[in-house]
Amino acid sequence: MDAKAKNWSPASWREKPIRQVPEYPDAKALTEVEEKLSTFPPLVFAGEVRRLKDALAEVAAGRAFLLQGGDCAESFAEHNADNIRDFFRVFLQMAVVLTYAGGQPVVKVGRIAGQFAKPRSEPTETREGVALPSYRGDIINDIAFTEKARRPDPHRMLQAYRQSAATLNLLRAFATGGFANLEHVHRWTLGFLKDSPATERYQEIADRITEALRFMRACGITGDNTPQLRSTSFYTSHEALLLPYEEALTRIDSTTGDWYATSGHFLWIGDRTRDPAGAHVEFMRGVKNPIGLKAGPGMTPDELLRLIDILNPENEPGRLTIITRFGADRIAAGLPPLIHAVQREGRAVVWSCDPMHGNTIRSSAGFKTRPFDKVMAEVRAFMEVHRAEGTHAGGIHIEMTGKDVTECTGGNTRVIREADLCDRYHTHCDPRLNAAQALELAFLVAEELSKSAAARAAAE
Ligand code: PEP
Ligand code: CO
Repeated sequence: MDAKAKNWSPASWREKPIRQVPEYPDAKALTEVEEKLSTFPPLVFAGEVRRLKDALAEVAAGRAFLLQGGDCAESFAEHNADNIRDFFRVFLQMAVVLTYAGGQPVVKVGRIAGQFAKPRSEPTETREGVALPSYRGDIINDIAFTEKARRPDPHRMLQAYRQSAATLNLLRAFATGGFANLEHVHRWTLGFLKDSPATERYQEIADRITEALRFMRACGITGDNTPQLRSTSFYTSHEALLLPYEEALTRIDSTTGDWYATSGHFLWIGDRTRDPAGAHVEFMRGVKNPIGLKAGPGMTPDELLRLIDILNPENEPGRLTIITRFGADRIAAGLPPLIHAVQREGRAVVWSCDPMHGNTIRSSAGFKTRPFDKVMAEVRAFMEVHRAEGTHAGGIHIEMTGKDVTECTGGNTRVIREADLCDRYHTHCDPRLNAAQALELAFLVAEELSKSAAARAAAE
Protein backbone atom coordinates (compact mmCIF):
# COMPACT_ATOMS: atom_id res chain seq x y z
CA MET A 1 0.00 0.00 0.00
CA ASP A 2 1.23 3.47 -0.81
CA ALA A 3 2.27 5.04 2.48
CA LYS A 4 2.13 8.57 1.11
CA ALA A 5 -0.76 10.72 2.32
CA LYS A 6 -3.48 11.02 -0.32
CA ASN A 7 -4.20 14.41 -1.92
CA TRP A 8 -1.67 16.07 0.30
CA SER A 9 1.00 18.65 -0.38
CA PRO A 10 2.96 20.91 1.98
CA ALA A 11 0.51 23.66 0.93
CA SER A 12 -2.78 21.71 1.06
CA TRP A 13 -3.54 23.17 4.52
CA ARG A 14 -4.22 26.47 2.73
CA GLU A 15 -7.57 25.11 1.51
CA LYS A 16 -8.81 24.36 5.05
CA PRO A 17 -10.25 26.55 7.81
CA ILE A 18 -7.49 27.80 10.06
CA ARG A 19 -7.31 29.06 13.65
CA GLN A 20 -4.67 30.88 15.66
CA VAL A 21 -2.51 31.92 12.68
CA PRO A 22 -2.18 35.69 12.19
CA GLU A 23 -3.29 37.71 9.20
CA TYR A 24 -0.11 39.39 8.01
CA PRO A 25 -0.86 42.97 6.92
CA ASP A 26 1.88 42.86 4.26
CA ALA A 27 1.14 39.86 2.01
CA LYS A 28 4.07 40.57 -0.30
CA ALA A 29 6.57 40.61 2.57
CA LEU A 30 5.11 37.30 3.79
CA THR A 31 5.61 35.66 0.40
CA GLU A 32 9.17 36.94 0.19
CA VAL A 33 10.00 35.50 3.61
CA GLU A 34 8.40 32.16 2.74
CA GLU A 35 10.44 31.99 -0.46
CA LYS A 36 13.63 32.78 1.39
CA LEU A 37 12.97 30.23 4.13
CA SER A 38 12.31 27.56 1.57
CA THR A 39 15.87 27.97 0.26
CA PHE A 40 17.48 27.73 3.72
CA PRO A 41 19.13 24.50 4.91
CA PRO A 42 16.97 22.10 6.94
CA LEU A 43 17.44 22.34 10.70
CA VAL A 44 17.13 18.59 11.26
CA PHE A 45 17.76 15.59 9.03
CA ALA A 46 15.33 12.84 8.07
CA GLY A 47 17.66 10.13 9.43
CA GLU A 48 17.58 11.70 12.90
CA VAL A 49 13.82 12.06 12.72
CA ARG A 50 13.47 8.36 11.87
CA ARG A 51 15.72 7.43 14.79
CA LEU A 52 13.43 9.39 17.09
CA LYS A 53 10.40 7.62 15.64
CA ASP A 54 12.05 4.26 16.34
CA ALA A 55 12.83 5.36 19.91
CA LEU A 56 9.21 6.42 20.39
CA ALA A 57 8.06 3.06 19.01
CA GLU A 58 9.92 1.56 21.98
CA VAL A 59 7.94 3.87 24.27
CA ALA A 60 4.70 2.78 22.60
CA ALA A 61 5.70 -0.84 23.25
CA GLY A 62 6.24 -0.13 26.96
CA ARG A 63 10.02 -0.46 26.83
CA ALA A 64 11.12 3.19 27.20
CA PHE A 65 9.99 6.49 28.72
CA LEU A 66 9.61 9.91 27.07
CA LEU A 67 10.83 13.07 28.76
CA GLN A 68 9.73 16.18 26.87
CA GLY A 69 10.16 19.68 28.24
CA GLY A 70 11.35 23.24 27.91
CA ASP A 71 10.04 26.79 27.70
CA CYS A 72 6.40 27.56 27.09
CA ALA A 73 7.70 30.10 24.58
CA GLU A 74 11.30 30.70 23.62
CA SER A 75 12.14 34.38 23.25
CA PHE A 76 14.59 36.43 21.22
CA ALA A 77 15.62 38.45 24.31
CA GLU A 78 16.65 35.42 26.37
CA HIS A 79 18.64 33.68 23.67
CA ASN A 80 22.06 33.05 25.17
CA ALA A 81 24.40 30.17 25.90
CA ASP A 82 23.83 30.22 29.66
CA ASN A 83 20.10 29.66 29.32
CA ILE A 84 20.58 26.78 26.89
CA ARG A 85 23.30 25.20 29.03
CA ASP A 86 21.31 25.50 32.25
CA PHE A 87 18.22 24.03 30.64
CA PHE A 88 20.18 21.14 29.15
CA ARG A 89 21.95 20.44 32.44
CA VAL A 90 18.79 20.04 34.49
CA PHE A 91 17.08 18.14 31.68
CA LEU A 92 19.94 15.59 31.65
CA GLN A 93 19.81 15.33 35.44
CA MET A 94 16.11 14.53 35.24
CA ALA A 95 16.74 11.96 32.52
CA VAL A 96 19.39 10.13 34.60
CA VAL A 97 17.09 9.90 37.63
CA LEU A 98 14.23 8.62 35.47
CA THR A 99 16.42 6.14 33.59
CA TYR A 100 17.69 4.65 36.82
CA ALA A 101 14.32 4.44 38.57
CA GLY A 102 12.40 3.10 35.59
CA GLY A 103 15.14 0.75 34.43
CA GLN A 104 14.35 1.82 30.87
CA PRO A 105 15.89 4.16 28.30
CA VAL A 106 14.60 7.74 28.47
CA VAL A 107 13.89 9.42 25.12
CA LYS A 108 14.92 13.07 25.53
CA VAL A 109 12.96 15.67 23.58
CA GLY A 110 13.29 19.40 24.30
CA ARG A 111 10.64 22.06 23.73
CA ILE A 112 13.45 24.09 22.23
CA ALA A 113 15.08 25.35 19.02
CA GLY A 114 11.75 26.28 17.43
CA GLN A 115 9.14 26.66 20.21
CA PHE A 116 8.11 30.22 19.41
CA ALA A 117 4.50 30.45 18.21
CA LYS A 118 1.67 30.56 20.77
CA PRO A 119 -2.06 29.96 20.48
CA ARG A 120 -3.99 32.47 22.61
CA SER A 121 -7.42 32.26 24.20
CA GLU A 122 -8.23 35.88 23.28
CA PRO A 123 -7.37 37.58 19.96
CA THR A 124 -6.88 40.91 21.74
CA GLU A 125 -5.49 42.11 25.03
CA THR A 126 -6.95 45.15 26.80
CA ARG A 127 -4.99 47.35 29.20
CA GLU A 128 -6.48 50.49 30.68
CA GLY A 129 -9.15 50.65 28.02
CA VAL A 130 -6.72 50.10 25.11
CA ALA A 131 -7.21 46.92 23.06
CA LEU A 132 -4.33 45.56 20.95
CA PRO A 133 -3.72 42.22 19.21
CA SER A 134 -2.53 39.55 21.66
CA TYR A 135 1.13 38.60 21.82
CA ARG A 136 1.49 35.37 19.79
CA GLY A 137 5.14 34.52 20.36
CA ASP A 138 8.35 36.12 19.15
CA ILE A 139 8.14 34.42 15.74
CA ILE A 140 4.94 36.44 15.08
CA ASN A 141 4.95 39.72 17.03
CA ASP A 142 6.61 41.53 19.94
CA ILE A 143 5.48 41.33 23.56
CA ALA A 144 5.66 45.12 24.14
CA PHE A 145 2.19 46.64 24.49
CA THR A 146 2.24 49.04 21.53
CA GLU A 147 0.42 48.93 18.24
CA LYS A 148 3.62 48.65 16.25
CA ALA A 149 5.06 45.86 18.42
CA ARG A 150 1.93 43.77 18.22
CA ARG A 151 1.67 43.95 14.42
CA PRO A 152 2.56 40.52 12.94
CA ASP A 153 5.88 40.82 11.07
CA PRO A 154 6.92 37.92 8.79
CA HIS A 155 10.61 38.87 9.05
CA ARG A 156 10.52 37.55 12.60
CA MET A 157 10.38 34.05 11.07
CA LEU A 158 13.89 34.56 9.72
CA GLN A 159 15.16 35.49 13.16
CA ALA A 160 13.41 32.49 14.72
CA TYR A 161 15.02 30.22 12.12
CA ARG A 162 18.49 31.61 12.82
CA GLN A 163 18.01 31.38 16.57
CA SER A 164 16.82 27.79 16.22
CA ALA A 165 19.90 26.93 14.16
CA ALA A 166 22.26 28.44 16.74
CA THR A 167 20.47 26.76 19.64
CA LEU A 168 20.53 23.41 17.90
CA ASN A 169 24.22 23.80 17.15
CA LEU A 170 25.04 24.26 20.82
CA LEU A 171 22.75 21.43 21.90
CA ARG A 172 24.41 19.04 19.45
CA ALA A 173 27.81 20.06 20.82
CA PHE A 174 26.65 19.54 24.42
CA ALA A 175 25.06 16.18 23.62
CA THR A 176 28.17 14.70 22.04
CA GLY A 177 31.08 16.85 23.18
CA GLY A 178 31.47 15.68 26.79
CA PHE A 179 28.93 17.86 28.63
CA ALA A 180 26.47 14.96 28.85
CA ASN A 181 28.96 12.66 30.61
CA LEU A 182 26.92 10.59 33.03
CA GLU A 183 29.36 10.99 35.91
CA HIS A 184 29.27 14.80 35.62
CA VAL A 185 25.52 14.86 35.35
CA HIS A 186 25.20 12.77 38.48
CA ARG A 187 27.70 14.98 40.34
CA TRP A 188 25.50 18.03 39.60
CA THR A 189 22.57 16.18 41.12
CA LEU A 190 24.55 15.32 44.25
CA GLY A 191 25.50 19.02 44.51
CA PHE A 192 21.84 20.02 44.24
CA LEU A 193 20.84 17.60 47.00
CA LYS A 194 23.66 18.78 49.27
CA ASP A 195 22.63 22.43 48.94
CA SER A 196 18.87 21.94 49.30
CA PRO A 197 16.87 21.34 52.44
CA ALA A 198 14.31 18.53 52.68
CA THR A 199 15.96 16.21 50.20
CA GLU A 200 16.48 13.07 52.37
CA ARG A 201 13.66 11.47 50.44
CA TYR A 202 15.65 11.80 47.18
CA GLN A 203 19.06 10.96 48.60
CA GLU A 204 18.38 7.23 48.53
CA ILE A 205 17.87 7.11 44.74
CA ALA A 206 20.95 9.31 44.29
CA ASP A 207 23.02 6.98 46.49
CA ARG A 208 21.94 3.99 44.48
CA ILE A 209 22.98 5.74 41.24
CA THR A 210 26.36 6.55 42.85
CA GLU A 211 26.79 2.87 43.67
CA ALA A 212 25.83 1.77 40.17
CA LEU A 213 28.37 4.14 38.65
CA ARG A 214 31.08 2.97 41.09
CA PHE A 215 30.35 -0.64 40.19
CA MET A 216 30.56 0.10 36.46
CA ARG A 217 33.84 1.92 36.94
CA ALA A 218 35.22 -1.05 38.89
CA CYS A 219 34.27 -3.28 35.95
CA GLY A 220 36.20 -0.99 33.61
CA ILE A 221 33.13 0.66 32.03
CA THR A 222 33.83 4.41 31.86
CA GLY A 223 33.15 7.36 29.60
CA ASP A 224 36.62 6.86 28.09
CA ASN A 225 35.76 3.48 26.60
CA THR A 226 31.95 3.63 26.43
CA PRO A 227 30.43 6.36 24.25
CA GLN A 228 26.97 5.81 25.81
CA LEU A 229 28.34 7.17 29.10
CA ARG A 230 29.76 10.36 27.66
CA SER A 231 27.23 11.34 25.01
CA THR A 232 23.49 11.22 24.55
CA SER A 233 20.73 11.52 21.97
CA PHE A 234 18.68 14.66 22.23
CA TYR A 235 15.84 15.77 19.98
CA THR A 236 13.96 19.04 19.43
CA SER A 237 10.23 19.73 19.30
CA HIS A 238 7.68 22.52 19.09
CA GLU A 239 4.02 23.18 18.40
CA ALA A 240 3.53 23.32 14.63
CA LEU A 241 1.29 26.36 14.82
CA LEU A 242 2.70 28.83 12.31
CA LEU A 243 2.03 26.90 9.12
CA PRO A 244 3.65 29.33 6.62
CA TYR A 245 6.94 28.74 8.49
CA GLU A 246 6.41 24.97 8.71
CA GLU A 247 5.51 24.66 5.03
CA ALA A 248 8.63 26.53 3.95
CA LEU A 249 10.80 24.11 5.92
CA THR A 250 9.07 20.95 4.71
CA ARG A 251 11.34 19.02 2.36
CA ILE A 252 11.52 15.73 0.46
CA ASP A 253 14.03 13.30 1.95
CA SER A 254 16.19 12.15 -0.95
CA THR A 255 16.71 8.63 0.43
CA THR A 256 13.01 7.74 0.80
CA GLY A 257 11.14 10.31 -1.27
CA ASP A 258 9.01 11.16 1.78
CA TRP A 259 8.10 14.62 3.07
CA TYR A 260 9.61 15.69 6.37
CA ALA A 261 9.12 18.82 8.44
CA THR A 262 12.70 19.94 9.03
CA SER A 263 12.05 22.72 11.56
CA GLY A 264 12.36 20.20 14.43
CA HIS A 265 12.40 16.46 15.01
CA PHE A 266 8.99 16.20 16.68
CA LEU A 267 6.03 18.55 16.12
CA TRP A 268 2.74 18.63 17.92
CA ILE A 269 -0.80 19.89 17.34
CA GLY A 270 -2.17 22.09 20.12
CA ASP A 271 -5.43 21.54 21.94
CA ARG A 272 -6.95 24.60 20.25
CA THR A 273 -6.05 23.67 16.67
CA ARG A 274 -6.90 19.97 16.50
CA ASP A 275 -10.07 20.30 14.40
CA PRO A 276 -10.06 17.13 12.24
CA ALA A 277 -11.19 19.23 9.25
CA GLY A 278 -8.83 22.11 9.95
CA ALA A 279 -5.54 23.33 8.51
CA HIS A 280 -3.22 22.10 11.26
CA VAL A 281 -4.38 18.50 11.11
CA GLU A 282 -4.19 18.65 7.30
CA PHE A 283 -0.56 19.80 7.39
CA MET A 284 0.53 17.26 9.98
CA ARG A 285 -1.02 14.23 8.32
CA GLY A 286 1.39 14.47 5.40
CA VAL A 287 4.77 14.82 7.10
CA LYS A 288 6.56 11.66 8.20
CA ASN A 289 7.89 13.00 11.52
CA PRO A 290 6.76 11.59 14.83
CA ILE A 291 4.02 13.93 16.00
CA GLY A 292 2.10 14.78 19.13
CA LEU A 293 -1.57 15.58 19.65
CA LYS A 294 -2.67 17.51 22.72
CA ALA A 295 -5.88 16.26 24.30
CA GLY A 296 -7.73 18.32 26.89
CA PRO A 297 -11.03 17.69 28.67
CA GLY A 298 -12.95 18.51 25.47
CA MET A 299 -11.57 15.50 23.57
CA THR A 300 -14.13 12.71 23.15
CA PRO A 301 -13.15 9.07 22.47
CA ASP A 302 -14.77 9.23 19.02
CA GLU A 303 -12.96 12.39 18.06
CA LEU A 304 -9.67 10.92 19.25
CA LEU A 305 -10.19 7.82 17.09
CA ARG A 306 -11.07 9.99 14.12
CA LEU A 307 -7.90 12.01 14.58
CA ILE A 308 -5.82 8.85 14.95
CA ASP A 309 -7.29 7.58 11.65
CA ILE A 310 -6.25 10.78 9.91
CA LEU A 311 -2.85 11.19 11.53
CA ASN A 312 -1.67 7.59 11.75
CA PRO A 313 -3.64 5.56 9.21
CA GLU A 314 -0.93 2.88 9.00
CA ASN A 315 -0.94 2.44 12.80
CA GLU A 316 2.82 2.91 12.91
CA PRO A 317 4.15 2.71 16.49
CA GLY A 318 6.13 5.85 17.38
CA ARG A 319 4.29 8.04 14.89
CA LEU A 320 1.73 9.44 17.34
CA THR A 321 2.02 10.61 20.93
CA ILE A 322 -1.21 11.57 22.73
CA ILE A 323 -0.32 14.31 25.19
CA THR A 324 -3.17 14.55 27.70
CA ARG A 325 -3.65 17.76 29.69
CA PHE A 326 -6.79 17.38 31.74
CA GLY A 327 -5.91 19.07 35.03
CA ALA A 328 -5.32 17.22 38.29
CA ASP A 329 -9.03 17.17 39.16
CA ARG A 330 -10.29 15.84 35.84
CA ILE A 331 -7.76 13.26 34.70
CA ALA A 332 -9.06 10.31 36.74
CA ALA A 333 -12.46 10.57 35.03
CA GLY A 334 -11.27 11.85 31.64
CA LEU A 335 -8.36 9.59 30.73
CA PRO A 336 -9.82 6.04 31.05
CA PRO A 337 -12.46 6.48 28.28
CA LEU A 338 -9.73 7.61 25.85
CA ILE A 339 -7.51 4.65 26.79
CA HIS A 340 -10.44 2.23 26.40
CA ALA A 341 -11.20 3.50 22.90
CA VAL A 342 -7.58 3.25 21.78
CA GLN A 343 -7.18 -0.25 23.27
CA ARG A 344 -10.44 -1.47 21.78
CA GLU A 345 -9.35 -0.35 18.30
CA GLY A 346 -5.82 -1.73 18.74
CA ARG A 347 -4.08 1.58 18.04
CA ALA A 348 -0.39 1.93 18.89
CA VAL A 349 0.21 5.27 20.59
CA VAL A 350 2.51 6.79 23.16
CA TRP A 351 0.60 8.17 26.16
CA SER A 352 2.26 11.22 27.63
CA CYS A 353 1.09 13.51 30.44
CA ASP A 354 1.25 17.31 30.26
CA PRO A 355 0.53 18.25 33.89
CA MET A 356 0.95 21.98 33.22
CA HIS A 357 -1.80 23.28 30.95
CA GLY A 358 -4.79 21.96 32.89
CA ASN A 359 -3.50 23.37 36.18
CA THR A 360 -3.02 27.06 35.43
CA ILE A 361 -4.54 29.52 37.92
CA ARG A 362 -4.20 33.24 38.74
CA SER A 363 -2.50 34.26 41.98
CA SER A 364 -4.23 36.90 44.09
CA ALA A 365 -1.81 39.47 42.62
CA GLY A 366 -2.82 38.42 39.09
CA PHE A 367 0.15 36.22 38.10
CA LYS A 368 -0.60 33.18 35.97
CA THR A 369 0.83 30.35 38.05
CA ARG A 370 0.69 26.59 38.66
CA PRO A 371 0.87 24.93 42.08
CA PHE A 372 3.62 22.28 42.12
CA ASP A 373 1.35 19.92 44.09
CA LYS A 374 -1.33 20.04 41.39
CA VAL A 375 1.27 19.34 38.70
CA MET A 376 2.55 16.34 40.64
CA ALA A 377 -0.99 15.20 41.45
CA GLU A 378 -1.83 15.05 37.75
CA VAL A 379 1.29 12.99 36.99
CA ARG A 380 0.50 10.58 39.85
CA ALA A 381 -3.09 10.17 38.67
CA PHE A 382 -1.82 9.55 35.12
CA MET A 383 0.50 6.79 36.37
CA GLU A 384 -2.24 5.28 38.53
CA VAL A 385 -4.77 5.18 35.70
CA HIS A 386 -2.26 3.45 33.43
CA ARG A 387 -1.32 0.94 36.13
CA ALA A 388 -5.01 0.14 36.62
CA GLU A 389 -5.62 -0.19 32.87
CA GLY A 390 -2.49 -2.27 32.27
CA THR A 391 -1.22 0.29 29.75
CA HIS A 392 2.13 2.08 29.65
CA ALA A 393 2.40 5.55 31.18
CA GLY A 394 4.81 6.53 28.45
CA GLY A 395 6.08 9.97 29.34
CA ILE A 396 5.74 13.47 30.68
CA HIS A 397 5.60 16.81 28.87
CA ILE A 398 6.47 19.82 31.00
CA GLU A 399 7.21 23.54 30.86
CA MET A 400 10.48 24.20 32.64
CA THR A 401 13.67 26.23 32.63
CA GLY A 402 17.16 25.73 34.00
CA LYS A 403 16.99 29.09 35.76
CA ASP A 404 15.92 29.91 39.28
CA VAL A 405 12.68 31.68 38.29
CA THR A 406 9.61 32.17 40.49
CA GLU A 407 6.67 31.29 38.25
CA CYS A 408 5.10 28.11 39.71
CA THR A 409 4.26 28.00 43.42
CA GLY A 410 5.29 25.21 45.81
CA GLY A 411 8.00 22.60 45.61
CA ASN A 412 9.44 21.01 48.71
CA THR A 413 13.15 21.79 48.49
CA ARG A 414 12.97 25.55 47.91
CA VAL A 415 9.35 26.54 48.39
CA ILE A 416 7.98 29.36 46.21
CA ARG A 417 5.07 31.20 47.86
CA GLU A 418 2.49 33.36 46.10
CA ALA A 419 4.22 36.45 47.45
CA ASP A 420 7.51 35.34 45.80
CA LEU A 421 6.07 35.22 42.27
CA CYS A 422 6.93 38.83 41.53
CA ASP A 423 10.67 38.25 42.30
CA ARG A 424 11.76 36.51 39.11
CA TYR A 425 8.69 36.06 36.93
CA HIS A 426 10.36 35.98 33.51
CA THR A 427 8.26 33.79 31.24
CA HIS A 428 6.93 35.19 27.98
CA CYS A 429 3.85 33.03 28.24
CA ASP A 430 2.97 30.27 30.75
CA PRO A 431 4.66 29.70 34.15
CA ARG A 432 7.52 27.19 34.09
CA LEU A 433 8.95 24.91 36.74
CA ASN A 434 12.33 26.29 37.84
CA ALA A 435 15.44 24.09 37.94
CA ALA A 436 14.87 22.88 41.51
CA GLN A 437 11.17 22.18 40.93
CA ALA A 438 11.92 20.35 37.67
CA LEU A 439 14.51 18.08 39.27
CA GLU A 440 12.27 17.48 42.24
CA LEU A 441 9.47 16.50 39.87
CA ALA A 442 11.83 13.97 38.28
CA PHE A 443 12.58 12.43 41.69
CA LEU A 444 8.88 12.16 42.49
CA VAL A 445 8.10 10.68 39.07
CA ALA A 446 11.02 8.30 39.69
CA GLU A 447 9.23 6.96 42.77
CA GLU A 448 6.23 6.19 40.57
CA LEU A 449 8.39 4.60 37.88
CA SER A 450 10.06 2.38 40.48
CA LYS A 451 6.61 1.02 41.37
CA SER A 452 5.89 0.25 37.72
CA ALA A 453 9.35 -1.31 37.27
CA ALA A 454 8.77 -3.52 40.31
CA ALA A 455 5.37 -4.61 38.94
CA ARG A 456 7.01 -5.45 35.58
CA ALA A 457 9.77 -7.46 37.26
CA ALA A 458 7.24 -9.40 39.33
CA ALA A 459 5.29 -10.28 36.20
CA GLU A 460 8.37 -11.61 34.34
C1 PEP B 1 1.53 24.57 25.07
O1 PEP B 1 1.97 23.42 25.09
O2 PEP B 1 2.23 25.57 25.33
C2 PEP B 1 0.09 24.77 24.80
C3 PEP B 1 -0.39 25.91 24.33
O3 PEP B 1 -0.64 23.69 25.13
P1 PEP B 1 -2.16 23.29 24.79
O4 PEP B 1 -2.28 23.27 23.31
O5 PEP B 1 -2.26 21.91 25.40
O6 PEP B 1 -3.03 24.29 25.48
CO1 CO C 1 2.29 26.74 27.60
